[in-house]
Amino acid sequence: MSNPIAYLEGSARKYALAAVKSESEGDYENALINLRKAIELLEDLVKNYPDHPLASIYRRLIGQYKRKLRDLEEKLRLEPASSGDDEVIVVETKSSGEEKLPPYVMREKPNITFNDIAGLEHAKEAIREVIVYPVKRPDLFPLGWHRGILLYGPPGTGKTMLGIAAANEANAEFLYVDAASIMSKWLGEGEKNVKRLFSYARDRALKTPVVIFIDEVDALLGYHNAEVGGEVRVRNQFLKEMDGMLDKMLRVHLYIVAASNKPWRLDEAFLRRFQKRVYVPLPDKRARKQLLEMLTSKLKLGDDVDLDRLAELLDGYSGSDIRDIVQDAYMITVREVFERGGVGEPRLITMRDFITVLEKRKPSVDQALISKYEEWTSKYGAV
Ligand SMILES: Nc1ncnc2c1ncn2[C@@H]1O[C@H](COP(=O)(O)OP(=O)(O)O)[C@@H](O)[C@H]1O
Ligand SMILES: [Mg+2]
Repeated sequence: MSNPIAYLEGSARKYALAAVKSESEGDYENALINLRKAIELLEDLVKNYPDHPLASIYRRLIGQYKRKLRDLEEKLRLEPASSGDDEVIVVETKSSGEEKLPPYVMREKPNITFNDIAGLEHAKEAIREVIVYPVKRPDLFPLGWHRGILLYGPPGTGKTMLGIAAANEANAEFLYVDAASIMSKWLGEGEKNVKRLFSYARDRALKTPVVIFIDEVDALLGYHNAEVGGEVRVRNQFLKEMDGMLDKMLRVHLYIVAASNKPWRLDEAFLRRFQKRVYVPLPDKRARKQLLEMLTSKLKLGDDVDLDRLAELLDGYSGSDIRDIVQDAYMITVREVFERGGVGEPRLITMRDFITVLEKRKPSVDQALISKYEEWTSKYGAV
């Protein structure tokens, strides 16, 4: 797979959702297999990308999935043949209005601000206008403010980083929603979970600004969500909650930031609730250079390394590709240390190292896909 981070995230989410579906069908064995796979992929992700924007959240998610795994193993042991339909479930959270964190919501706020994100000035500006300014000066917004921003574009371009930074820039509480946990094996329960999410968020928003972040929202609310236990109702409940926010909560600072690599999977009813739809494209030359400077600031570069030239050569590569390329170039020098017995310090990284890596590595996003985003933008983009 061309973009390793996006691949690991996307597949982990797919397997976790498949586990929910299997469990809802009473197929605990397949639920186990899928959940194990999801855990494995998330573990790979946090191991290989410890600085991933959501690393701390994914670590917590791994813990949750593991508990769930034990729960499933227990079920398989106790009732190998039964369908499980007649079990009594204990619902952990209570009636609305109570300020308890539902299990599918995580509240860590990774420490990422706009300064950590290269380029994307238009997206930062959109976030400032929709979230940061109304939080800072609500008096300047007598007509209220928008609630939803959709960030869409190719994988690895900084959408997740922007979502987190939005909360930090506005000094808001950050609520990360896990798609697989909000969908439930119980028909109707997913819908209730959405209700609880919003009820919790509304409560919090009376005290502090709140940003709900939904990553890869298409997996949850796209046309294809019928794949997960027929829960079209989750989507409808979501739309209803968003309408409620727009109608009745005019002066409350509750915002939804959603990210998607596949915006064409989202339907128009959903899109209408997101008044701002911001394209997050591949980095331009300036952003690539900025990113290179950020990524190499802690590394030792040889005199011949020309970041400007390198930024030119990296045309077509995503931010996440560029991060990997810098890492791989550095690894050449580390490998040499180990080849000579693991002693001493790595040598300076040279332009040749970068070129060596580049020659072996194609951009993870191809032109046909870029055209697809551009076409979608001309129809549905709303800045
Ligand atoms: N504009 C950017 N500025 C800084 N880092 C970036 C940028 N775009 C991508 N990255 C790097 O790529 C990784 C993945 O970014 P992410 O925000 O998860 O992308 P997306 O959500 O669009 O798939 C980040 O951890 C970061 O290292
Ligand atoms: Mg992402």
